[in-house]
Amino acid sequence: MSKNEKKEGCKSSGSDSRETPGGQDRTLLSRAAGRPVSRREFIKGVISSGATIAAVGYIAPDAGTGRAWAASPGAVERLISLQVNGRTRRVDVLPQETLAMTLRYKLGLTGTKLSCDRGECGACTVLIDDVAYNSCSTLTHSVRNRSITTIEGLEGPSGQLHPVQKAFVEELGPQCGFCTPGQIMSAVALLKANPHPTREDILISMSGNMCRCGSYDHYLKAIMRVA
Ligand code: FES
Ligand code: FES
Repeated sequence: MSKNEKKEGCKSSGSDSRETPGGQDRTLLSRAAGRPVSRREFIKGVISSGATIAAVGYIAPDAGTGRAWAASPGAVERLISLQVNGRTRRVDVLPQETLAMTLRYKLGLTGTKLSCDRGECGACTVLIDDVAYNSCSTLTHSVRNRSITTIEGLEGPSGQLHPVQKAFVEELGPQCGFCTPGQIMSAVALLKANPHPTREDILISMSGNMCRCGSYDHYLKAIMRVA
């Protein structure tokens, strides 16, 4: 799928808490449970449940996506070699496995984010032979013998930031930061193909990367700065 296609944005989340007339915070959750819960207790509960869900998703990706991708009838893993960030990585891969799954859950390269998992948001963008691809829509078996670069592969020999990463920080691009690795990978691909893009070139090239925090202007300025 072309990286230049306009994609839908992510959905925003809502809140289930509100303040009582007496000034004491009660959540709808605590009302349902029939006992008051302090704001501190509620926040602690949300954080700990979020951490648990994130950990389960890392260990068992099926639990995070709700998909039984490892249980397809007749699916057999095959050991293949991938060229990732300049290294040869040997990994067992299912026939229908996407590159995003392989990178995150088998090679531990969690800088590549998974959001829509259907080629709409750009969060999973990686470079394949220096071209930006949505790794959630790319089968791992199809990229054997290709050069794959993830966000982890951009750092310099001494751990220094890539110029695009540096510019993103200086222009205060990342807000929550979830879309940022994908934005950076798309920007790097653009600048490799066109080191001096116009503002219009950047807008078109980055149109496949969504940002629910609305940092588009910051990212645009950062790329202009590098260009
Ligand atoms: S996760 Fe949204 S495009 Fe891949
Ligand atoms: S989604 Fe939060 S910075 Fe883009």
